[in-house]
Amino acid sequence: MAKHRADAAPAEPDEQSTPTAATSTDPIGRHRAAPGPEGLSVWATAQATGPVQRRGRYVRESVQHPARMLPAIAAHAVTAYTQPGDLVLDPMCGIGTTLVEAIHAGRDAIGVEYESRWSDIADANIKHAHTQGATGRAGVIRGDATSLLSLVPGALTGQVALVVTSPPYGPTVHGLVRPGADGVAKFDNAYNDGTDRGNLAYRDLTGLVDGFAQILAGCHTLLRPGGVVVVTARPWRKHGELVDLPSAVIGAGVRAGLTPVDRCVALLAAVRDGGLVARPSFFQLQAVRKARAAGTPMHLIAHEDVLVFIKSQTDSGSGSLGDTLGGGVVA
Ligand SMILES: C[S@@+](CC[C@H](N)C(=O)[O-])C[C@H]1O[C@@H](n2cnc3c(N)ncnc32)[C@H](O)[C@@H]1O
Repeated sequence: MAKHRADAAPAEPDEQSTPTAATSTDPIGRHRAAPGPEGLSVWATAQATGPVQRRGRYVRESVQHPARMLPAIAAHAVTAYTQPGDLVLDPMCGIGTTLVEAIHAGRDAIGVEYESRWSDIADANIKHAHTQGATGRAGVIRGDATSLLSLVPGALTGQVALVVTSPPYGPTVHGLVRPGADGVAKFDNAYNDGTDRGNLAYRDLTGLVDGFAQILAGCHTLLRPGGVVVVTARPWRKHGELVDLPSAVIGAGVRAGLTPVDRCVALLAAVRDGGLVARPSFFQLQAVRKARAAGTPMHLIAHEDVLVFIKSQTDSGSGSLGDTLGGGVVA
């Protein structure tokens, strides 16, 4: 029986997108309609499925991570907010999607990841990208990004042009599935064994958001004035109720001294012939079908919220939370 992955599209397996006359498609399936210099708030980032976007570009082990970002989302952020040679940071870099897309685009990149299991794969992905001609430099640091300034070289203070990251959402949202005798079961959906609260995935919403605000405060110090932070986040449902992580992320950014400037949409559905083709995870599909059968008018979530912040042009110091925490720079 075929194995299903959470980000695979049951209705449209591993399909390569087809460009139309007015558009072009790049190696990771971004479908561009040349929107002009002002850009659009809706990012067509799922014209190809996740597996198609990653095939050949990422090492095979990457699939083990329960919550990888779509490469086209990271790539779009990098091209929209930086120039070649700029420095991009992902303080929760997982298997290194932000870093790989940055170095393919000629930017330099630095990542932090708490779990060595994922930072090892990020290292392998960077190596692989270089064998494919990526020109940027990149490095991954293993550690707890809530103490970002004690991990990253002090020389990088004020040097980062762009942060692209996404908080972990906990084991109910992500996962890989495998068909079994009793139907489909989740497997390998953990960041770690769940006992180590240093991984924000294993905190409650308040703990997650507090930790994320600390991470953003560190990013604020590392950003250059006018630097941009892009955070992707999705709401999730707990006991049928919506948990609004994106709004909590905006609050965390403000606490960290950042200014929210945009709330965009990164599509997880493909645009085809004037309509959207959804690419839901198995669990999302199952949950929505159950809810609708029970009379709750739920919809499939077909996008990531993209929260965009800037560090003010006149702000050269650390974020307000960073000040509160006394977050100094380790040289
Ligand atoms: C949503 S995933 C990011 C995935 C990544 N964008 C990618 O494409 O692989 C969040 C990551 O944050 C990591 N993480 C959790 N707590 C952390 C912490 N305190 N410091 C650094 N990384 C952390 C998790 O292990 C996980 O890999």
